[in-house]
Amino acid sequence: MTTQTQTWQGQTMTPLSFKESLGDASVGGVSLAELAKSYGTALYVVDGETLRQACRDYQDTLNQHYTAGHQVVLACKSNFNVGLAKLIASEGLGCDVVSAGELMTAIQAGISGDKIVFNGNLKSEEEIALAIDHNVSRLILDNFDEIERVAKITKAKGVKVNVLARVAPGIECHTHDYIKTGQNDSKFGFPLARVDELLDAVLKHPEELDFKGIHGHVGSQIFELRAYQDLVTIFFTEMDRIRQKYGITLPDLDLGGGWGIAYTHADTPLPIPTLIQTVVEAVKASAEALDYPLPRLLFEPGRSLMARAGVTLYTVGGRKEVEGALPYISVDGGMGDNIRPALYQAEYSACVVSQLGKAVATEAVRVVGKYCESGDVVLRHFEGPRMGNGDLLLIFGTGAYNYTMASTYNRIGRPAMVLVENGKHGLLVERESVQDLLALDRIPSWL
Ligand SMILES: Cc1ncc(COP(=O)(O)O)c(C=O)c1O
Repeated sequence: MTTQTQTWQGQTMTPLSFKESLGDASVGGVSLAELAKSYGTALYVVDGETLRQACRDYQDTLNQHYTAGHQVVLACKSNFNVGLAKLIASEGLGCDVVSAGELMTAIQAGISGDKIVFNGNLKSEEEIALAIDHNVSRLILDNFDEIERVAKITKAKGVKVNVLARVAPGIECHTHDYIKTGQNDSKFGFPLARVDELLDAVLKHPEELDFKGIHGHVGSQIFELRAYQDLVTIFFTEMDRIRQKYGITLPDLDLGGGWGIAYTHADTPLPIPTLIQTVVEAVKASAEALDYPLPRLLFEPGRSLMARAGVTLYTVGGRKEVEGALPYISVDGGMGDNIRPALYQAEYSACVVSQLGKAVATEAVRVVGKYCESGDVVLRHFEGPRMGNGDLLLIFGTGAYNYTMASTYNRIGRPAMVLVENGKHGLLVERESVQDLLALDRIPSWL
């Protein structure tokens, strides 16, 4: 066992406002120990400053470098509730939704349809009708069945909708297979080789569908600028071909999301402004080379907006020594609030808040959750101060794909989520109680 003082301040995986003190830390100017006392643990904490800065990184860079129009929409699947929707809307962002639930959350937050795009590979008839009734700015067609479904509903309503079509650009990215969506063998989007069939099918409905452009998403947790440069080149080649064959100049180009964040020191993403400047240069170069009018650009970031802003606070509740293996440290959360380690073998950085600034003995442990699965691991190998019951453990980078993928496995309610900003704290989502869990249960009459 060695002795050392832990320090995390200023590292790329911490929220921007993260500050250490002796035996505590703060986010948004609010003590984490106080938050644990007030709201309990496990607890999701969102730093308003980090989230706003990420929104501004996208907006300001586009405002500065691209004059032909743009729309940045939060991929709501990454993290979403009415409060978060209000926050991103106050920064000028819109929403990329994939369900009636996400759509109505945006609407409830006062976001108007012209700032909403509707994605997803299976939208129900009800969802399509709801999207049309709320005048969403773009319905993003994903497959041939959907073209006919949307056309039928718009015809019945006597309206015409603006559509994009998601096209799988055939780009391979170095990311986990399960979240790779840009390749040809994907459940998402039209294959590049079938774009003409797609156009033919859409153009059969001139009174119902107004085709505005193509959409691509290269994958998730992407660090390679080249993937986006290739996407732009491939799509401009396609847009030019469509112009020549169909005489249509497409006004929109949607480049999806996917930019990565630092979960551990092994991850070294370039800053968002570098991504955007690179994309904008690629767009301008392709447009100039093909003499194509600059399209309005759409971006759908999720993780790169949300992940760093969020942290999860747990309380240590148990320790088990195992012969020849790492000691197990159990915390009061786990796969119910963060499925990513079990699903993707995702790794995180963490600190023991209650030991910060103290010279303490360190050790290697495996941190596990309280759910009934051996795969319920929070940190596979964590090197840090020796933890005892009651210590507060903070996991960084949990702001995306944690809450939105949370479950009530073992009938454990999902944690509360708190927004912290300028010394203030307020609930974004209440902790789910046992009463909440029981509220939807019914007993069939014959029982
Ligand atoms: C179509 C689309 N847009 C945007 C995103 C957001 O991706 P990320 O959170 O990696 O930015 C996804 C994620 O799967 C997606 O499928």
